[in-house]
Amino acid sequence: MTHTTQTVQTSTDPVLYRATFMHTPRSPFADADALHAEDDGGLLVAGGIILASGPWAEVRAQAPEAPVTDLRGGLLLPGFVDTHVHYPQVRVVGGLGMPLLDWLDRNALPEEARLADEGYARVVAREFLGALAMNGTTTALVFGAHYAGAMHAFFEEAAASGLRTVAGLVVGDRLLRPELHTTPERAYAEGRALIERWHGRGRALYAVTPRFSLSASEGLLDACGALLREFGDVRFTSHINENVTEVEVVRGLFPEARDYLDTYERAGLVGRRSVLAHNVWPSDRELGAMAEHRCSAAHCPCSNSALGSGFFPLRRHLAAGVHVSLGSDVGGGTGFSLLKEGLQAYFMQGLMGAEGVALTPAHLLYLATRAGAEALDLGDLTGDFSAGRQFDAVHLSPPPGTPLAAVYAHAEGPGRLLAATFASGTQGDVARVWVGGGEVYARG
Ligand code: GUN
Ligand code: ZN
Repeated sequence: MTHTTQTVQTSTDPVLYRATFMHTPRSPFADADALHAEDDGGLLVAGGIILASGPWAEVRAQAPEAPVTDLRGGLLLPGFVDTHVHYPQVRVVGGLGMPLLDWLDRNALPEEARLADEGYARVVAREFLGALAMNGTTTALVFGAHYAGAMHAFFEEAAASGLRTVAGLVVGDRLLRPELHTTPERAYAEGRALIERWHGRGRALYAVTPRFSLSASEGLLDACGALLREFGDVRFTSHINENVTEVEVVRGLFPEARDYLDTYERAGLVGRRSVLAHNVWPSDRELGAMAEHRCSAAHCPCSNSALGSGFFPLRRHLAAGVHVSLGSDVGGGTGFSLLKEGLQAYFMQGLMGAEGVALTPAHLLYLATRAGAEALDLGDLTGDFSAGRQFDAVHLSPPPGTPLAAVYAHAEGPGRLLAATFASGTQGDVARVWVGGGEVYARG
């Protein structure tokens, strides 16, 4: 356990949080001591920003008069960062028994077509944002809907929710259902209007989002590239190398491209602020290029299991120097909990034997928090409890009488506490959630 108190100077009405807290300001993949745990810790917060972070006695001494919120008995973690989750799919979780392309045709896309109705989309957006908050997710890279009206409704509801969202209109112009298809011209015009209205407004950012190369002509990808060139700091996200059949179809559709990644590279879509979901079947060339571009792979282990997509080659990503974060991939995934995603990542890496990575609780925490903030280029703002970050936090407090409550009462050391949290923590253990110092969820 490290004992360093960090401090930032400001003046406005500070409040203190007293809790057992843990965070990973550095990557455990690079530094074996990266888990920072305070058994009796303090966080001094003013104006939504963490001013001081460290042992309770030291932080308390800096603000002897400040009111105290006592969260002892639970565990305070940085808010989770979900780097791949689909807003229109909240109602189709659980469509098991189909591989990706069948699942899209039979389960996901019929529901996505219903978001043509803006009223319907708004209700789904509320359900979706509520589900993120009650699972402790404070920042999400959200795969949007195919309809601009549904995206305006989403951004309005996201603003009301208080969550940090990076989201965009999903575009495709082939091989989906006709009612989901757009054109390069329309994709550009609608994307531009959405960016001008929402990017950088409150806690919202925009992500240019072609669904995947399978459903995008070169012209459509070029229209996405034009938006990225014009608006330098918007994010980019899409799917890549998820399923072997998908990869084969993409190869046939882009005979000129070196591989799947190249279909995006050629349109200028891959850079530091790009997040590519899945990447279960990458070539060495693609991994090397992803590292050079400094883009991120969003690993979605529950989805990879539910859709039978395959085992994520984490070891190869790390060896190549590719940054990896976590995603729930609702509704291909099985729910919104990044605790569950962390556990499933651990299981799958273990099952890979020598090809897997032996993940520790510190790795799981990093993947669920700090790694996501870095993938979204929001590392200065959120992802850990260092002084200077926003107070984005989740308080886990298992209901009395539950097995996890017994573990919390008796766990020996922070590693055990964190391991038990990932092993059996659920939505029901999330008691309170804050973004920028404001409460966005409190268990009823
Ligand atoms: N590839 C293209 N669309 C989707 C989707 O909605 N979910 C997943 N898992 N993969 C996709
Ligand atoms: Zn997805």
